[in-house]
Amino acid sequence: MSKPVSICVIGSGYVGLVAAVCFAEIGHQVVCVDKNEAKVKTLRDGGVPIFERHLPELLARHGGRGVTFTTDLAAAVEQSEAIFIAVGTPQGDTGAADLSHVEAVVSQIARSINGYKVIVEKSTVPVHTSERIRRVMHLNGVAAESYDVVSNPEFLREGTAIVQFLHPDRIIVGANSNRAAGLMRRIYEPLTSGSYYELPNSLPGACSLQCPAKLLVTSAQSAEIIKHASNAFLAMKISFINAVSNLAETVDANIEEISAGMGLDTRIGPSFLRAGLGYGGSCLPKDVAAFQWLAEQQGVNFQLLDEVRRINEHQKELFFNKVRAALWTLRGKRVAALGLAFKGDTDDIRDSAAIGIIKKLLEAGASVTAYDPAAMERAHELLPPSEKLRYAGGIFEAAQDADALLILTDWKEFADLDLERLKQTLRFPIVIDGRNLHQPQQMLDHGFTYISIGRPAIYPPHAGDARKLAV
Ligand code: UDX
Repeated sequence: MSKPVSICVIGSGYVGLVAAVCFAEIGHQVVCVDKNEAKVKTLRDGGVPIFERHLPELLARHGGRGVTFTTDLAAAVEQSEAIFIAVGTPQGDTGAADLSHVEAVVSQIARSINGYKVIVEKSTVPVHTSERIRRVMHLNGVAAESYDVVSNPEFLREGTAIVQFLHPDRIIVGANSNRAAGLMRRIYEPLTSGSYYELPNSLPGACSLQCPAKLLVTSAQSAEIIKHASNAFLAMKISFINAVSNLAETVDANIEEISAGMGLDTRIGPSFLRAGLGYGGSCLPKDVAAFQWLAEQQGVNFQLLDEVRRINEHQKELFFNKVRAALWTLRGKRVAALGLAFKGDTDDIRDSAAIGIIKKLLEAGASVTAYDPAAMERAHELLPPSEKLRYAGGIFEAAQDADALLILTDWKEFADLDLERLKQTLRFPIVIDGRNLHQPQQMLDHGFTYISIGRPAIYPPHAGDARKLAV
């Protein structure tokens, strides 16, 4: 492998922490900075602050050695060749990303610079942020030849972030200088040469020595757009299939068959065609809004993005209406809710459709017993337990005597349900599945009323003329 690079990663959230341990994993010397002292202490003591597959393993392997943790930004900057900024860029009131954390960090970097450094934007930022960073550096009196600014967006999906970092579809480096691009190539060399994949303890994934990671060098502006355009495109795919699912329901077609048929077209591809409650999480909603804001600012008509957002919101309302139609009245009903996280395999509840639906159920007078394998602790902050809202220790505890069971997050354990036991546990065998985790025929065989997304609703033979009521 090429000579290790000394790297500083500022921010130990999902992006920063994953990047820091992965850079250590590919042989670099990393210092990860966070201003939150409690978090730094947790990390120093071997704690794992977020739920992410392989993170505990990599922290145990490199913590205190290849990657160290500190609150001292100045010292970390001084000892590093490359400085990755991975602080939060939350959505501001206008839809634009709030870059105040980025700006604060850049001012601090400016005060500590002691030789040539490459400053890398890793946070999701709008186009021209690299220009703005340069301006802040200039205003703080830093000479232009002491640094370069590079945009190196990440495309990680929560839950599989570590494997994706080490086995990426692509690495985008937006650099307007050869010197900076050279350092970035050196940092990613173990992945682009494939040498990492030959190491005895390397994490397995899609890349290999024969098929290593691809690195594309672009201008900084293009890299910044690639990130937002990619996420907006993924959101559009999801909204598209959700709109088709609504149409499918009206003609008794099956969205799963439709997605499979469409996905076989290599120009379309099978991923991100899963119909459901719509997209959520920390990235897609925020990035669609930020991209739309950018288009407006630039005077470009991009109303398509408006529609993508509208369909996504509507999808949650439609689901809520299905619950109402299945239960007739909601006041006084007991509903079991499986899932709180915005998707399976994560404890993240930011912009989670599940949380929104539970809130609406409570407002409508229903009581809810919720269960999620990982996100319950976080959910307590947004939805504190009360007389109307209980948190259960498992699926069957949640389902006990409930009038209906809702599936709100695509956790594997919700797909692997023991249906016979579930039927015995529920008060009424009604399942409303917002993630299409079950097969309608199988649910019918077990005697359930089963309502899902974009597929004909299933009613057991003696349920009366329920179809007429399901509007
Ligand atoms: C996303 C992007 O995939 C990633 O490239 C980017 O860096 C960050 O944002 P993430 O937020 O972790 O990653 O989740 P992702 O797996 O993309 O799912 C986003 C949302 O879309 C989830 O709520 C998920 O349930 C939903 N989704 C995804 C669908 O409804 N249907 C699909 O087919 C795929």
